[in-house]
Amino acid sequence: MAKNSYRASFSKRFIEGMLKRKDPDEMLAVAKTEGLEKTLGVMDLIILGIGAIIGSGIFAVVGIAAAGGGESVGAGPALMVSMIIAAFACVFSALCYSEFASMIPVAGGAYIYTFATLGEFAAWMVGWILMLEYAIGYIAVACAWSNHFMQFIKGFSTYLPAWVSNPPLWLVNDSRSAMKIIEDSGLDANVVVPHICGMPVCINLPAIFIVLLITAILVKGTKDSTKMAGVMVFVKLAVIALFVCIGAFYIKPANWTPFAPNGFEGVFMGAFIIFFAYIGFDALATTAEECKNPQKDLPIGIIGSLIVTTIVYVLVALVLTGIQPTSGVEIPTGFLKAPMAFVMQNVGQNWVAGLISIGSLAGLTSVLLVLQLAATRILFAMSRDNFLPHKFQVLHPKYHTPALLTWVVGLICVVGTLCLDLNVAAELCNFGTFTSFIIVCVAVLILRKVDPDRPRPFKVPFSPYFPLMGIICCGGLMIYSMQSLTTSALLFPAWIGLGALIYLHYGYKKNRVEEVFDKRRKIVESRENNSEGESVES
Ligand code: ALA
Repeated sequence: MAKNSYRASFSKRFIEGMLKRKDPDEMLAVAKTEGLEKTLGVMDLIILGIGAIIGSGIFAVVGIAAAGGGESVGAGPALMVSMIIAAFACVFSALCYSEFASMIPVAGGAYIYTFATLGEFAAWMVGWILMLEYAIGYIAVACAWSNHFMQFIKGFSTYLPAWVSNPPLWLVNDSRSAMKIIEDSGLDANVVVPHICGMPVCINLPAIFIVLLITAILVKGTKDSTKMAGVMVFVKLAVIALFVCIGAFYIKPANWTPFAPNGFEGVFMGAFIIFFAYIGFDALATTAEECKNPQKDLPIGIIGSLIVTTIVYVLVALVLTGIQPTSGVEIPTGFLKAPMAFVMQNVGQNWVAGLISIGSLAGLTSVLLVLQLAATRILFAMSRDNFLPHKFQVLHPKYHTPALLTWVVGLICVVGTLCLDLNVAAELCNFGTFTSFIIVCVAVLILRKVDPDRPRPFKVPFSPYFPLMGIICCGGLMIYSMQSLTTSALLFPAWIGLGALIYLHYGYKKNRVEEVFDKRRKIVESRENNSEGESVES
């Protein structure tokens, strides 16, 4: 009997712990007293937004979305429709992000919104899933950066020593990519790649270099990072404009038929893949605590950067599929790796191709800056909530940034570049992002019900329909793509399962221990206050 009632009360306490919600007012108070320095204005936010969004998606992944490859078929010229579908999935979620970001402007984005609505366990899971978006996505972009950098260096092969322009492939690739190249070119892996204990050893040096560089920049400060991102945003938008203007003269309308060679499957898979190109606007919400006027500026920053990029992407899709046939022909590897530069080279505009390479490097660098910034800010918020050691909250005495945490994230990503491959990392990143978008849409609906009177400087229009549309668009694309993808569709549930296990064995317990400490602290404080009061009276 006693055993049963103990079990029942344990289960009750366990569930209560998992569902424990954070009070948004408490979070705002903590952010006010211990928060990060407020340096970001509206222009900084739009720059950060475009900086985070336009990158490997439009400079690299777009080739596969158009022509197919890996485990999916291509959209063909209907790529522009795929882009609009992906943009719709983002817009509904962007509106929900804006409502939250203006209402609870503290570091942590979707993670803290979930803590305020769905409780501790869901918040941990969202933080864990967001690492797929920001950390695994970051690794994907670092791998793409490495490919583009080597492509760029090859352009100077006549001036550079061979060991620089054409290094051994195990020094510029992850293991999976190196093995694929070796397989395609019929080389002997045992000769070309060193092995330790029978395992191939590949070190993607350019990717490691860029990760360490970005980490050092971020440690120096958010304001410096946005200045750098600003220059890179200008460069990448300029080369994309050049591509659209020059490319327009080479469009052959015949290439636009058949419009959707793989029907709905191609269009939806294209939308799933190109969704990667839109990821990043949500990273703005994670910097809320560093905004000067988050209530007004964040919604403008989030929605403004999304609108600009959608227009840019549709124009690129029109020109790209107008120049390069995407069905009924053998698709060149160059088109799948760096499509914009490839088509310009193909039409004899080598100087434009060269400039596009520079622009894509700038684009990828700015994406890296924002993704790592976002990953660090989410972990910062998680360490505030006892999910990670409190040491990670310590700010650098001079730069006022979470330096230790930034370096830890950087070093984990360095390890990631050694084992992850670009395509799988990008697909995993998409799954993680779709899930976090769905949760944010659900959270908006819940908070409207449980806390209707909280001031909302920005409100999602047509609620509940817009948040519901966000859930349907993101959920639909995610479920549809799972039917075609195998590797990432298996890794994603495995990641979720691992997250749940870590929570049960570490996060849950740590939070309960901290609760006891908190209670004791409060008792001691109140005793001290009482005795001070008594001594003043006497
Ligand atoms: N949207 C980002 C990119 O395309 C992740 O690189």
